[in-house]
Amino acid sequence: MRLDKFLVECGIGSRKEVKELIQNREVFVNGVPSKDPTLNIKIENDKIEYKSKVLVYKEFRYYILNKLSGYVTALVDSKSPTVMELLPEWVNKKDLFPVGRLDKDTVGLLLFTNNGKLAHELISPKKHVDKVYYVEVENSISKEDITRLEEGIDIGGYITKPSKAEKISDKKLYLNIQEGKFHQVKKMMHGISNEVTYLKRVTFGKLELGNLEAGSVIEIELKDII
Ligand code: URA
Repeated sequence: MRLDKFLVECGIGSRKEVKELIQNREVFVNGVPSKDPTLNIKIENDKIEYKSKVLVYKEFRYYILNKLSGYVTALVDSKSPTVMELLPEWVNKKDLFPVGRLDKDTVGLLLFTNNGKLAHELISPKKHVDKVYYVEVENSISKEDITRLEEGIDIGGYITKPSKAEKISDKKLYLNIQEGKFHQVKKMMHGISNEVTYLKRVTFGKLELGNLEAGSVIEIELKDII
């Protein structure tokens, strides 16, 4: 692979930017500064360094973020900050996108990848991927509410598929759904005459938020996801 392409793929910058870095001798190939952007490198054998860090090329990348409230799940937005802005500098953002969507005021687990095929499978309703939400609501939850949530709720012309609901306390519950309709959890709570006051996604398929700090990101591997 050409050195400039390699650097672009590693998320270092655009073609133009990396060309400049190379010409300024800021990129080292096997310990020697290179000034040739077209240099052919062998990804497996050559050691490429930038800012004293060895660059590792990965075709597919996976990261999880503990999303903060106030960020929209989009690549760009003219009005609000996006989840992309929560990704730290060390994340290779090239072709990266969020898998599925959390509302602006929802917090918790959000997966990012550049693997379009995997993303498609994870959000396909046919794949029945579990998503567990920790939900706080305005009014007390009854046993009947739990049954209704589990059996299916009319959320405006659509009956939700069976889900699992676990009451934690009077106004707190876990809700496990395998679908991802727009505002689904909030609409399900409306369906039982309630209102979400706090919503956090805690799992997504095999992935668990665990004790990842709010606003933090970790890189994970494919085996952690499927
Ligand atoms: N359901 C919602 O209502 N909002 C989310 O962000 C996710 C699921």
